[in-house]
Amino acid sequence: MTHRVISPQHGGEAAGPLAAVDKVKGGLKFHLHPDAIPLATPWQVALERASRLAELELPGGVILDAACGSGIQLAAHMLATQRAGLGIEADEVVALSAAANMWRVGTFDRSEEAPWLQSSRVIVGDGTDSKGAMAVVGEVTIGVLQLDPARPQNSRTHGLDEMSPQLDEVFSAWAEHLAVTERGPALLLDLSPRLSDSQCSEVEALAETQWPGVAKTWEWTSRGGGRIDRLSLWLGAASSPGVETRYVRIPPHSQQAAIIVVDSHTRGETRTDPSSSPIESPSPSEGSARSLPRVGEYMTILDAALVSSGLAEPWLDTVLPQQERFRWLEREGRRPVITHLRQLEIDPEGESLLVQASGRIIAIISMEITLENVPLLVDIAVENKLHPVTIRAPLDPEIQPRVQAALHRMLRDKGGVSPGFVLCDPSSSRLFICRE
Ligand SMILES: C[S@@+](CC[C@H](N)C(=O)[O-])C[C@H]1O[C@@H](n2cnc3c(N)ncnc32)[C@H](O)[C@@H]1O
Repeated sequence: MTHRVISPQHGGEAAGPLAAVDKVKGGLKFHLHPDAIPLATPWQVALERASRLAELELPGGVILDAACGSGIQLAAHMLATQRAGLGIEADEVVALSAAANMWRVGTFDRSEEAPWLQSSRVIVGDGTDSKGAMAVVGEVTIGVLQLDPARPQNSRTHGLDEMSPQLDEVFSAWAEHLAVTERGPALLLDLSPRLSDSQCSEVEALAETQWPGVAKTWEWTSRGGGRIDRLSLWLGAASSPGVETRYVRIPPHSQQAAIIVVDSHTRGETRTDPSSSPIESPSPSEGSARSLPRVGEYMTILDAALVSSGLAEPWLDTVLPQQERFRWLEREGRRPVITHLRQLEIDPEGESLLVQASGRIIAIISMEITLENVPLLVDIAVENKLHPVTIRAPLDPEIQPRVQAALHRMLRDKGGVSPGFVLCDPSSSRLFICRE
């Protein structure tokens, strides 16, 4: 494949339609070719991780993105580190958009004249062909290798051999051009959260083959809704000393700081595999006998993405008073629930994003949630001055909104002062009514 170079300001109007980026003050816009939209890194995610990358002691040199797509992640790295970027993209139109997006980010930052922007380039070409790339831009030293390979979009799983470009080919092509610190070269691999634990081990093995003993930090990123959006592997000088795994919850507003949960020991041990069967037995932290939750205990529905990253337990250790023990009532699915004796000690501004709801059980009843039974829930809510009360139980989607609306309507003007929620015990017909 022949390589062709594009400078940022020459990405131009052929670069695809402009789309505004949500929640960015002053209206930063990006050129996004329709085919590149599902693959593009959301700006808030890109900038948040770029800011953390910039805080590390990185080797000197440019930032190479060997499959740069829209260039959004590369431009965020350039902005945060104030380093020149070199993007390589196989698709010519997408490469044009990457160059144009670098320029948009640079001009948004009023850095038109900055050397890091002026010397940045996008190459239309193959990210595994370092010789071809260097033939058109000259010899460059790479300070950070960023790689977010394309993968099939329409299947739940995919193999490493379906990634394009292939990780090992990119590693071997660029290894000799990567500058190092005493912690090795700096690489950030953006991977799919659909990778299984064994595929993650395969990725580690590929990195080890090229850089034996290289330090690794795995990162699960979520923008909410209980979904893991990104899985990334930070290698060598880009890894965080002593941190094997971390969970990053990107907040809804760009002014808020991300919530970061770290653990040094859990990778691959407690992560919930999406395909595994539900865990019915208690977790190791809860003792052997599963007694039923009682009135007065607390129930907390955790962020499902935190739980599936395997980092719920280390986080709970930091927010349960005196490292109190807790029990899992439900560990799988959209509403993972724990019970505990005392209130969580969390910062309401930030860490509350890791909790869907938390409250004290004020009543336990054996009942099905139906439209006919709503008055019974209303009686309990009125007696305990609850308002509003949210149903947080899996109900038929046809019935759920009707039951919820009836509950709201019947509780209006009944003097309730505290919000509450209703949960159901996954192993019985019991309902727990909780005050938040
Ligand atoms: C997941 S996207 C990258 C998204 C990017 N991180 C962003 O922020 O927009 C992967 C890109 O790699 C490109 N690609 C696939 N194989 C390639 C190769 N061998 N060399 C260069 N680019 C390649 C695809 O065209 C696609 O645009």
